[in-house]
Amino acid sequence: MVLKLTAVPAMASLLRAAAPGLFSWRGYCSRGLQGELSKGFVESLKAIVGSPHVSTAVAVREHHGQDESIHRCQPPDAVVWPQNVDQVSRLAALCYGQGVPIIPFGTGTGLEGGVCAVQGGVCINLTHMDRITELNTEDFSVVVEPGVTRKALNAHLRNSGLWFTVDPGADASICGMVATGASGTNSVRYGTIRDNVVNLEVVLPDGRLLHTAGQGRHFRKSAAGYNLTGLFVGSEGTLGLITSATLRLHPVPEATVAATCAFPSVQAAVDSTVQILQAAVPVARIEFLDDVTMDACNRHSKLSCAVAPTLFLEFHGSEQALAEQVQHTEAITQQNGASHFSWAKESEERNQLWAARHNAWYALLALSPGCKGYSTDVCVPISRLPEILVQTKEELKTSGLQGGIVGHVGDGNFHCILLVNPDDDEEHHRVRAFTKKLGRRALALHGTCTGEHGIGLGKRQLLQEEIGAVGMETMRQLKVMLDPRSLMNPGKVL
Ligand SMILES: Cc1cc2nc3c(=O)[nH]c(=O)nc-3n(C[C@H](O)[C@H](O)[C@H](O)COP(=O)(O)OP(=O)(O)OC[C@H]3O[C@@H](n4cnc5c(N)ncnc54)[C@H](O)[C@@H]3O)c2cc1C
Ligand SMILES: *[C@@H]1O[C@H](CO)[C@@H](O)[C@H](O)[C@H]1NC(C)=O
Ligand SMILES: *[C@@H]1O[C@H](CO)[C@@H](O)[C@H](O)[C@H]1NC(C)=O
Repeated sequence: MVLKLTAVPAMASLLRAAAPGLFSWRGYCSRGLQGELSKGFVESLKAIVGSPHVSTAVAVREHHGQDESIHRCQPPDAVVWPQNVDQVSRLAALCYGQGVPIIPFGTGTGLEGGVCAVQGGVCINLTHMDRITELNTEDFSVVVEPGVTRKALNAHLRNSGLWFTVDPGADASICGMVATGASGTNSVRYGTIRDNVVNLEVVLPDGRLLHTAGQGRHFRKSAAGYNLTGLFVGSEGTLGLITSATLRLHPVPEATVAATCAFPSVQAAVDSTVQILQAAVPVARIEFLDDVTMDACNRHSKLSCAVAPTLFLEFHGSEQALAEQVQHTEAITQQNGASHFSWAKESEERNQLWAARHNAWYALLALSPGCKGYSTDVCVPISRLPEILVQTKEELKTSGLQGGIVGHVGDGNFHCILLVNPDDDEEHHRVRAFTKKLGRRALALHGTCTGEHGIGLGKRQLLQEEIGAVGMETMRQLKVMLDPRSLMNPGKVL
């Protein structure tokens, strides 16, 4: 379905591209003086999706103006629930034609304020589009709509012998994961979402439908032109609405074993990680939790692990391959002074362990009821991980901030989960300062300011420092080309 824009006010769009921020679409055409949408515009939304699927109620809007981050946000002016891609396309064309901002909404688990409606506009809650439309078991691929979450997909795949490997802590929507460039505990072995997306269906800001790798295609490799799929991974809703994703699946391993392993120091745990990778042990998961986080997990998830810097590990393969991997790993960790080594073979035990890891965020929040969490997210080359982690742990101790460290250390990626009193501006300020300093330290070590949470509202300055002037200019040109009126999730990333 192809829809064309009727009238684009060229002068206004030029102005906006030249001086974003100076020129606001608030009040333009469809919006009253208070920044509210006109009655006629709301009627047009209802004509597309049906009245029950449009809301302008304050509580609903406020719910959609907020993700799991500490960013203080504005609600959108309306929320709509499209039922299919054709409706998404018509909604985009309507909003674009009228100069109204569009904000795609997945499950709202983002950690950088990605869904905040900084200029108001229409929030598009995509959860009603939740079908798994195609499963090609022999080709290891599946096609999902934007409302499908990672857990729902794996439940669907249960008896297929295949699984979807990308597992952020929250049960996020898969297209939201594509939009933020998400990853999880399995990416050291199976890659991030970036490595596991083959094709995307995207509604462009003006309503046109793009198939980034060609309609219906799901090949393993191709050398056909620019990679448009990759362009939309990490685009955070600023280039278009992802309405379908073709994903790569992996065969379920023959055997799996998990373990926890406590260390005398942060250094010993991280050194072991680097050595395990250098020894080319094909570890499936290797996660670091510091003493504070272990203590919180013991309480929250009823574990009885040592309160010490700890690695959670998992190995996949045949029984024979597992024995070898385990032996190799044990030798390395013992050389680094590890104690309290315990293996979990039964799936129930393993699930309990990984549920505890995935719930580390909530376990830390439970330490200080009423507080909100903020998670840093740097990622560095693996050889620099020990120095940055040890230094960060020391700084966290002396900062006066409350929080713990968890990390997908196999990828060189870790998070300080900091607890913030939402009413304490001074504490907010210190958290932001800590985050910025850590980001800059990662950049100095040739790393990135975000391994997986994205730029959103909070890291735009760091992105500039990371990517440089020409990089930023190229990104801005791509943005202007796809979204000349700057209406797709304005205020984010750039
Ligand atoms: C407890 C907890 C643990 C977490 N652990 C991890 C982790 O281990 N790894 C990790 O990577 N992240 C993690 N996250 C962050 C979060 O789960 C991810 O960023 C996730 O990918 C967000 O998906 P979502 O559907 O909730 O997106 P939302 O929060 O709804 O949106 C995020 C951004 O994507 C855009 N967007 C959403 N859907 C679409 C779409 N269909 N098309 C275009 N743009 C869209 C939005 O506009 C917004 O800019 C965690 C969050 C929590 C709360
Ligand atoms: C988005 O819509 C779904 C389905 O109606 C709903 O369950 C979910 O709570 C909505 N999101 C928010 C933030 O309200
Ligand atoms: C394009 O990029 C995506 C995302 O990084 C990747 O998964 C895909 O394999 C790439 N496609 C080709 C044809 O190289």
